Amino acid sequence: MSLSEITAYRARILHFTAMPDPHTGAGVEYFDDGVLLVERGYIKALGSAADMAQQGLDLQQCQHFPLHLIMPGFIDSHIHYPQTRVIASYGEQLLDWLNDYTFPAEMVFSNPDIAAQRAQEFLQLLLQNGTTSAMVYTSVFAQSAHAFFAAAEQLNLRMIAGKVMMDRNAPPPLLDTPASSETDCRALIEAWHKHKRLQYALTPRFAPTSSPEQLAVVRKLYRAYPDVYLQTHLSENPQEIAWIKTLYPQSRDYVDVYDHYELLGARSVFGHGLHLSDREVERLAQSQSGIAFCPSSNLFLGSGLLDMARLERAGVAVSIATDVGAGTSFSQLRTLADAYKVLQLQGQNLHPLKAFYMATLGNARALQLDNCIGNFEPGKEADFILLNLNATPLQTLRQQSATHWVEQVFALMMLGDEHNIARTYIMGELVFQRGAH
Ligand code: GUN
Ligand code: ZN
Repeated sequence: MSLSEITAYRARILHFTAMPDPHTGAGVEYFDDGVLLVERGYIKALGSAADMAQQGLDLQQCQHFPLHLIMPGFIDSHIHYPQTRVIASYGEQLLDWLNDYTFPAEMVFSNPDIAAQRAQEFLQLLLQNGTTSAMVYTSVFAQSAHAFFAAAEQLNLRMIAGKVMMDRNAPPPLLDTPASSETDCRALIEAWHKHKRLQYALTPRFAPTSSPEQLAVVRKLYRAYPDVYLQTHLSENPQEIAWIKTLYPQSRDYVDVYDHYELLGARSVFGHGLHLSDREVERLAQSQSGIAFCPSSNLFLGSGLLDMARLERAGVAVSIATDVGAGTSFSQLRTLADAYKVLQLQGQNLHPLKAFYMATLGNARALQLDNCIGNFEPGKEADFILLNLNATPLQTLRQQSATHWVEQVFALMMLGDEHNIARTYIMGELVFQRGAH
């Protein structure tokens, strides 16, 4: 095997080939001493160091991180880039939080220079947290979406994003119109959808801030561009749901509002979905729509606890997301820890293998990106992270007392944050190294 165009990384390695079964280990591939081979940005091979050596690999050629864990980059299925600087804003639940903090913060994104700078700042935070792909809300201003895509292109990131559409119930400077949003979305799709590693998501903020006329535009665009995505919010907060009843009196329920405009489907990701009726859950399942579980946001805004077991029983794909800035961390480690606690409160468990599956291959599947990212199958894009399991004195003590690697990754999930991300690689290139400036 020639190493001339291949880089070899030797470390502990964990990834998933399917939804894991913690009892049998099916779907899990773990190497205590593994080697990941990357060729020109793509995964070439993966195996134990012993097997690789037997196949002729000179282990001396490896970049060796004996104490670190390599995993595929994390994927975040729901996050707002204009909300970075209002993360951790005090005292409100959803509707007041939007009015008092979020909408004012999004106003400055009309300025393309500010938007460009904030997009870079946001993407750096993702990389520092080991998140290599995300499904992202920009702001209502088309220029903020252009700025985001340009910044992501510069870093060669695989990202899904869209311009927020909202034409009512927000401050006038933040409103578009059905016609302007159609023109802007068409231009953005033409410019960015499937351009390099970028894809477009139609992004009506949520039904309360779109008129029926605007939702009809979203339907028209989703029909015209069936391979784009759709993202919006659903059933997050009781006051929001009561408001939906007054705004859409003809609809049976919240899901029915989106259903009426043909917005459900396998490429549609609905944030939250906390307070759904059985009928709504069934309809989401039937239509193969996804739910983005945002535990840190749901706790922070006091929105409620996601009954994940109920959704999964019904066959709804549940992905995991930070929902920054209502979520209080960019870290998927912290998000998984919050998910664990939210489920514990309901007598449900989140096994660490399932949790790390969700943050990687599970989210890739939920976003229909598993053909190119999510695990270390040969041929996939080499977006991966190097995790330090001993980022604090307490973590070191806990890791030393663990008797099995699964116990170690559970401690990583419960105690970890961005300080555990030692390095982040995009298409085989080192783009973030902790401690290096
Ligand atoms: N519902 C409508 N907009 C938003 C938002 O920006 N964040 C959250 N968490 N919920 C929303
Ligand atoms: Zn959100």
